[in-house]
Amino acid sequence: MNNLRLPPPRGSPSGLRLRSTHSSDHSPASNSKESKDRIVQQTDQDASQSRVSAVETGYLHDDFAKAFCAQEGARKFPLINRGTFVRTTALDRLVNTFLSASPNQRKQIICFGAGSDTRYFRLRQSLPPDALKNLVYHEIDFAAVTTSKVAAILRNQFLPSADIKAVDEAAGYLVADGYYIHPLDLRSLQPGCQMITGVEPDTPTLFISECCLIYLSPEEADAIVRWSTGDFTGSVGMVIYEPIGGEDAFGKVMIQNLASRGIVLKTLKKYSTLERQRLRFKALGFVDGQQAADVYFISEEWIGESEKERIARLEMLDEVEEWRLLARHYCVAWAWRGEEFAVWKGAVPLQTE
Ligand SMILES: C[S@@+](CC[C@H](N)C(=O)[O-])C[C@H]1O[C@@H](n2cnc3c(N)ncnc32)[C@H](O)[C@@H]1O
Repeated sequence: MNNLRLPPPRGSPSGLRLRSTHSSDHSPASNSKESKDRIVQQTDQDASQSRVSAVETGYLHDDFAKAFCAQEGARKFPLINRGTFVRTTALDRLVNTFLSASPNQRKQIICFGAGSDTRYFRLRQSLPPDALKNLVYHEIDFAAVTTSKVAAILRNQFLPSADIKAVDEAAGYLVADGYYIHPLDLRSLQPGCQMITGVEPDTPTLFISECCLIYLSPEEADAIVRWSTGDFTGSVGMVIYEPIGGEDAFGKVMIQNLASRGIVLKTLKKYSTLERQRLRFKALGFVDGQQAADVYFISEEWIGESEKERIARLEMLDEVEEWRLLARHYCVAWAWRGEEFAVWKGAVPLQTE
């Protein structure tokens, strides 16, 4: 949702569906692997700028978003701000449900393509001391992305220096008490690969892919999910946020807009529906539960009435139909194997279609 370029929203209610946008600031990629990777890395800027926009407009409270945003952008459209709010709130809810059950149990989170994500630092502010002490949090991204994050952490002293055990700013590597940043290409992860430094395969582990696995080929993305269930012996859960539904007219324009910037949503076709997302998890080893809901359903059913009223007061949302259309093209999917994730059962309203 962050990297959707919308045509001017006012006075063109159907523009989102009908027009494709071609921006001049991102020329189509050349074909080298490096330049394709660079374009994928740049999607973090969109995510980061959207987070700052949602914070500055009052949707989200986040003390870290601005510091991790390397390049500030223009305020986003209300549709995008709302999408960022729903996406963040939904993932926070699943993460917090996992962490708040049995706080004395050691737990691990591994975030794929973490980029400028602020979740670990927000958890440091909000988790009870016992739960924080028992949490080990790993972020993985390309070195091109992690270097600026490590620099921002050090510059802003977001971690007490006594907590930092090892750091290499130029390499984008950091090891702290309960927190790791790994400069690593996710495509190296597959069943049987060498375990990542500090990762505990027998600790209950939640994997997060917030708009990341979609940029990998279906084979590469599947290998990572298989690694998550195959090489970890404890309970495992996964939460994915990503686009779905590329087959209708709206989806085709969305794909075309991104393609004009050289961005390819590689797994979209294979995992284009909520049902396909659920089956994906089941087939790849998350055998105890698989769920998926679109962002529109989540915005209607997971957000309480008073929060909905607060959001409605922040900005005029003229394009209610467009919001519905856009939000139906993104999903949160989650699945698990093992008892530490049984807390997810009944934790949120479920979409049955
Ligand atoms: C759209 S951004 C999302 C960032 C963050 N998860 C968020 O939601 O704010 C996608 C991220 O995935 C990372 N990524 C994509 N493919 C990757 C790979 N093969 N290895 C490591 N990181 C990857 C990109 O570098 C980028 O930071």
